Amino acid sequence: MTSPPIFHILSGQVIASLLATGHDDVVTVVRDTYRMHGRHETNNPDSYFLRFDDRPNARIIALPAAVKGDSPVSGIKWIASYPDNIRANLQRASATLLLNDYETGYPVACLEASQISAVRTAASAVLAADVLGGGRRGGRLAVIGAGVIARTILDYFRAQDWAFDSIAVHDLNGVDAAKLRRFASSMADDCSVGTSLEETIKGASHVVFATTAATPYVHDPALLHAGQVILNVSLRDLAPELLLPAFNVFDDVDHCLKAATSPHLAEQLTGGREFVAGTLADVLAGELVPDRDKPIVFSPFGLGVLDLAVGRHLLRRAIEGGHTHRIDDFFPDTARW
Ligand SMILES: NC(=O)c1ccc[n+]([C@@H]2O[C@H](COP(=O)([O-])OP(=O)(O)OC[C@H]3O[C@@H](n4cnc5c(N)ncnc54)[C@H](O)[C@@H]3O)[C@@H](O)[C@H]2O)c1
Repeated sequence: MTSPPIFHILSGQVIASLLATGHDDVVTVVRDTYRMHGRHETNNPDSYFLRFDDRPNARIIALPAAVKGDSPVSGIKWIASYPDNIRANLQRASATLLLNDYETGYPVACLEASQISAVRTAASAVLAADVLGGGRRGGRLAVIGAGVIARTILDYFRAQDWAFDSIAVHDLNGVDAAKLRRFASSMADDCSVGTSLEETIKGASHVVFATTAATPYVHDPALLHAGQVILNVSLRDLAPELLLPAFNVFDDVDHCLKAATSPHLAEQLTGGREFVAGTLADVLAGELVPDRDKPIVFSPFGLGVLDLAVGRHLLRRAIEGGHTHRIDDFFPDTARW
């Protein structure tokens, strides 16, 4: 008889301490997972959105996924986005990740996942900037939106030894912009709060969009230039017309051309996908070469397989260190007879 599996709970506090020095490992896990996704060694169905008629801007998303390879795992991230939370200084996103044993399907762990979601997003953006822009040096980094995701992306730029001449931050909320500017101040001699969106973006070598904008508000094509690397993390800031002359790279094309993202609007505008260059996995495999005579836009929809792979990595480290809450009797008796 197979003995009942042990169920582990991994607290956010333990995850925070594992992540504090684990940036390079997370980038490696993300890179490897993109490669596996490109080789179809993953299973990443559509996300499922729970919405509320009395809270139109809130949602909870289910991201089921499976990663094969040496130690396969399946599971689901369940992530809530409540943009109004930030009025009370409460983070917008909260999440849990359930991991399942690949052989039996039994759930084996529950992890606090808002940090996992933030670091996989940041690692993917910083990896894309490196691979698409060709190196870890930049002129001006423009950051649009000064929340948790922008802060985590800056943290990953810093941990990956990026050097920028200057950093400019823009947010509708000047107080948040000033806080992120202070956070960035050790990364470049010249850190400022951009007085306008246009001034912040124009001429920047790298642009991060990490806002909660629901519809595009960047319409001027003159704000983008050839070779500029745009990390389109929040996905709905750029007018679709701006994507058409750009070199557009995705984490997964089918996933990203959905849910009224700017690339989805570009597909609706043109009736086709001619503006799609390919995926980051294609670039990592050497099958796609970034065209630096165009603005380069990376649009990551955010794949559940990344959450799973980073979660599995953290769970393994936590079990090795004896840092999980073990629940030995979560499944009391698993024998069928
Ligand atoms: N693509 C992915 O994989 C992925 C993963 C995680 C989060 N995200 C997205 O990243 C975004 C940021 O998340 P967060 O947790 O940092 O949110 P947050 O609420 O902490 O911060 C968002 C900030 O954007 C600012 N903002 C909103 N609209 C703006 C505008 N038009 N111009 C300038 N600033 C504006 C807000 O004032 C706020 O400070 C969200 O849209 C989230 O959905 C994407």
